[in-house]
Amino acid sequence: MTDLSLPDLPGGLPDKRQVAASFSRAAASYDSVAELQRDVGSQLMDCLPADFVPGRWLDLGCGTGHFSRALNDRFPASHGVALDIAEGMLDHARPLGGATHFIAGDAERLPLQASTCDLIFSSLAVQWCADFASVLSEAHRVLRPGGIFAFASLCVGTLYELRDSWREVDGMVHVNRFREFGVYQQLCAGSGLTVAQLQTRPHVLHYPDVRSLTHELKALGAHNLNPGRPGGLTGRARILGLIEAYEQFRQAKGLPATYQVVYAVLEKPV
Ligand SMILES: C[S@@+](CC[C@H](N)C(=O)[O-])C[C@H]1O[C@@H](n2cnc3c(N)ncnc32)[C@H](O)[C@@H]1O
Repeated sequence: MTDLSLPDLPGGLPDKRQVAASFSRAAASYDSVAELQRDVGSQLMDCLPADFVPGRWLDLGCGTGHFSRALNDRFPASHGVALDIAEGMLDHARPLGGATHFIAGDAERLPLQASTCDLIFSSLAVQWCADFASVLSEAHRVLRPGGIFAFASLCVGTLYELRDSWREVDGMVHVNRFREFGVYQQLCAGSGLTVAQLQTRPHVLHYPDVRSLTHELKALGAHNLNPGRPGGLTGRARILGLIEAYEQFRQAKGLPATYQVVYAVLEKPV
């Protein structure tokens, strides 16, 4: 049985300061390589009820603010808060507008008062939170009754081609850890929020070679930051081993990289 004691991700996730620093460094390059992130966030927007208009929304883990601006376009009469743990991302997002306030903060400890938001929108951010139960309890606290927490995240199965290829080369952690979809289901069910939608769908991207994939992960700030990752330079022999192993996955379109995306819409009971 899955152990749901906190933190809910066995093996842990990277230190938050490292996550913030990595995304801050990536702020300038992020938008040029964020094809999957655009697609997922748009699909999450489509999950919102058509007639729902929040008085105040929160874009949780806003990154460069693409979806803060999209939320502002969709709800022009609403007030928006864009929040991220990475100051560099906020510096990038702020001049582009969209939200009324841009705030540095942690999804596990929101610097917001109780019952102040009608919508929390969070696309591809909470997979970085080791304690997802805290994210849910903060969402519950900050939402007004009738409010919605819509999130997209990643679960086990994400980047499995890269993980399996590295496993053939050595036994080290080279790919960020993701929780099981079943853990999302259990934590959401126990959150006090009503689960209106919770599903997982694979998105598969294709790359001409392994280097294109690993460069893209770095440009996104999403390369491996796990505790236990190998330190130092990656030797030439091991890189060649990785390339050889990954080639076994090659398809007509190129080398596949699977992202197992979780889409959820949760409601705070009235
Ligand atoms: C992959 S980016 C997604 C950005 C944006 N939502 C989008 O779809 O383009 C993930 C973002 O989550 C932020 N993040 C990671 N951990 C966080 C936390 N604990 N609290 C708030 N933001 C966090 C990162 O700094 C980064 O900007």
